[in-house]
Amino acid sequence: MIRTAKVTDLDTIYKMGRALHDNYKQTYDLESLLTKDYFHLLVYEKDNQVIGFLAYSLLIDSVDILDIYVDKEYRQQKIASLLIDYMISMVDPKTSFLLEVAVDNLPAISLYEKFGFKVIHTRKKYYGQKDAYVMEREALNE
Ligand SMILES: CC(C)(COP(=O)(O)OP(=O)(O)OC[C@H]1O[C@@H](n2cnc3c(N)ncnc32)[C@H](O)[C@@H]1OP(=O)(O)O)[C@@H](O)C(=O)NCCC(=O)NCCS
Repeated sequence: MIRTAKVTDLDTIYKMGRALHDNYKQTYDLESLLTKDYFHLLVYEKDNQVIGFLAYSLLIDSVDILDIYVDKEYRQQKIASLLIDYMISMVDPKTSFLLEVAVDNLPAISLYEKFGFKVIHTRKKYYGQKDAYVMEREALNE
């Protein structure tokens, strides 16, 4: 089941976030972000346990995907795809999507390509020494 995150989910999300960035909790004040209209945090819940999440911001007609994560033991079961499908279903079809992804994160790049994202730019040393691709999914009907 996919639903919007609650404050009580945040500890679990912070634990998962640590696999994405060392100081996830210091970097993102999710409790405060949850109160913002532009910020959206979806979780995937299975057997009353949060096993994945997707964080994005939506400003007018542009989504910035901030993070997506699925617990290791549940990967390659389409959970990330379901989260992205859900996000897309929540926004206007004229919305465009942007994200950054490390150039060596092949599972994530492949996932985004499946949803029509294309590399539009490379940001040098975006993640420490590592470069990032900026990927975009253009709005439909443009
Ligand atoms: C990237 C991530 C979110 C994918 O989650 P997932 O639930 O396993 O993804 P899905 O099962 O929906 O996979 C959809 C597509 O993604 C790609 N993919 C997912 N895992 C992959 C892997 N290990 N190797 C290659 N491609 C992979 C495939 O194209 C797959 O389509 P397919 O099943 O038809 O082959 C997950 O691996 C993860 O949490 N990684 C760590 C966090 C991270 O890197 N997040 C992205 C930050 S930008």
